[in-house]
Amino acid sequence: MKVTVVGAGNVGATCADVLAHKEIANEIILLDIKEGFAEGKALDIWQTSPVNLYDSRTIGSTNDYSKTADSDVVVITSGLPRKPGMSRDDLIATNAGIVKTVTENVVKYSPNAVIIVVSNPLDVMTYCAYLTAKLDSKKVFGMAGVLDTARYRAFLATELNVSPKDIQAVLMGGHGDTMVPLPRYTTVAGIPVTELISEDKLNEIIERTKFGGGEIVKLLGTSAWYAPGAAAAQMVEAVVRDQRRIFPVCAWLQGEYGMNDIYLGVPVVLGKNGIEKIIELDLNDAEKTLLKESAEAVKSVMDVLDNMNVANA
Ligand code: LAC
Repeated sequence: MKVTVVGAGNVGATCADVLAHKEIANEIILLDIKEGFAEGKALDIWQTSPVNLYDSRTIGSTNDYSKTADSDVVVITSGLPRKPGMSRDDLIATNAGIVKTVTENVVKYSPNAVIIVVSNPLDVMTYCAYLTAKLDSKKVFGMAGVLDTARYRAFLATELNVSPKDIQAVLMGGHGDTMVPLPRYTTVAGIPVTELISEDKLNEIIERTKFGGGEIVKLLGTSAWYAPGAAAAQMVEAVVRDQRRIFPVCAWLQGEYGMNDIYLGVPVVLGKNGIEKIIELDLNDAEKTLLKESAEAVKSVMDVLDNMNVANA
């Protein structure tokens, strides 16, 4: 197995590091446009192998995509991160050009790869990669729900003072302030979360989750990386090991949830072919309304991309 991570910044390098520890690929290629940067990070990661006792080899490359040839999975993390005061959507013009170029190069050398997009604004960059790659949409999807759900689960674990391992949740919609955590589908070791927490407290946690990325940008002056990198690596693992795990993933909808031609976070089964199945939940009216609002927010940024004509240029 061979996995490529494009972008050796904080998120990409963390993803490569987590992947190396998981030992799911013999070779992990870390590629970046900045001279020597990916080589340096890859060397540092590889030098943890005798300490951490694994043998997956991380190899760095300065923009030489021939090194990525025949990758089974490619994670795209390239692009600028947010600075304080910026929304993810503020990144669209710069990051769309970057994601388009990266995707062209990826597909040229790995036409059969599953592509996982992590760049922001996430839903729209996934759309950009899909338009550029011209692959089956089951093989081009985005990482957001695993991260957003992880934040939601971590906040709940802190509040309830229980293990995060026991908290399961579904979160849908775009990777932005309109994301939709779903209390009705949140359980703690099988117990509906609403039996363990007051409505007010749960609503507070839902609000905090929606702005979870921004909370970190404010604290650090740049975007998060440990949780985003680990979340992307977990999705890679599900594909490489054909685990058929159920995760919320940014997927291309064609009729599901009554929506068409939109990339949006929904629960899916992830396996060796990428998205093996999109799970359609029977949402109630309030949940449907929230999902629709989130879809409208994503669609308006997709329109910006369409008008820029970046992907077709
Ligand atoms: C976040 C960025 C990576 O949510 O979108 O932290």
